[in-house]
Amino acid sequence: MIITVTLNAAIDKTLAVPNFALGRRHRAVEQASMAGGKGVNVARTLKALGQPVIATGVAGGSTGTRIIEQLTGDAVLNDFVRIREESRTSTAVVDPTSGEQTEINERGPAVSEAELDLFVDKLLYLAKGAAMCVFSGSLPRGIEPSLYARLVEEVGRLGVTTVLDAEGEPLRLATRAEPTVVSPNEPEAEELVGHEFGDDSDRAAALRSIVELGAREAVMTMSSGCLALVGAEPERRLRRVVIEALEPVSSVGSGDAFLAGYVAARYGGDTPEECLRFATACGAESTQHFGAGVVDPKVVERLLAEVRVEQVEEPAVP
Ligand SMILES: Nc1ncnc2c1ncn2[C@@H]1O[C@H](COP(=O)(O)OP(=O)(O)OP(=O)(O)O)[C@@H](O)[C@H]1O
Ligand SMILES: [Mg+2]
Repeated sequence: MIITVTLNAAIDKTLAVPNFALGRRHRAVEQASMAGGKGVNVARTLKALGQPVIATGVAGGSTGTRIIEQLTGDAVLNDFVRIREESRTSTAVVDPTSGEQTEINERGPAVSEAELDLFVDKLLYLAKGAAMCVFSGSLPRGIEPSLYARLVEEVGRLGVTTVLDAEGEPLRLATRAEPTVVSPNEPEAEELVGHEFGDDSDRAAALRSIVELGAREAVMTMSSGCLALVGAEPERRLRRVVIEALEPVSSVGSGDAFLAGYVAARYGGDTPEECLRFATACGAESTQHFGAGVVDPKVVERLLAEVRVEQVEEPAVP
């Protein structure tokens, strides 16, 4: 079983608005609303890929009820802790004329200490029957930034493979807690190592520092695929994975589909290289759908043929 953790679950509303401009009144030509939050997206993709997954986290109010009902409606197993405050609604405006995308995320509910304790109990209970656990997305208000670090440690101690997709302080602290895999996008990785990247040698050095901080493997998504330092030492290798850019319908959540692809392949026992290829095909395929975490497994298989993997020499340590 694979667990996904979503502490900031949401209803994601996507509106298609041609010629979107600030300060004007618009009419949406298309709209979709689905359960979201990064972990929920990952769970939806894993389900589409035929993997056994259970989504957990916290959800509150009528929005929380809708999140749970939508997951259940999509036949995604779920077990959330109900909280007192209302879960958030996140709105994305996609402009089909320019391809530009604007996102507005609500602040989200505060989670009390008692609610958090209930969640941690639930997670540790579920983890006893799980092989992998994915932590993704931001932490709710009122929660210590060290929460992911603590969970990675406790769940990891049960022998569960831990995968982390977060940013800022929660990512920095949890990377030190030795997660199996961290998967930031490029700006998140820049923030984690504390400087911007000029070229691939900067990126490779950053992956190395992320591993030195504590992560066993580091996968950085980029718009063209990913750069990754994966595999256990002494076989750990730097690999660049590339796919031709597709004309996106919506790239919201392509990182989540990427991560789900990676986890699915890894759960199935694929080699590090196969995991990265499958992940990249899933990320790319998800850009062809309006909703986050939506992939067509048949198209993923077709795209796989177009994914190239290059082994890259690691730059010498200066
Ligand atoms: N237009 C595109 N064509 C093909 N692949 C794409 C395209 N856009 C994104 N991808 C793929 O999706 C994956 C995730 O990309 P990205 O780094 O943008 O994630 P992200 O910023 O974490 O996204 P999010 O947080 O919205 O889920 C990458 O492997 C990338 O190659
Ligand atoms: Mg991401």
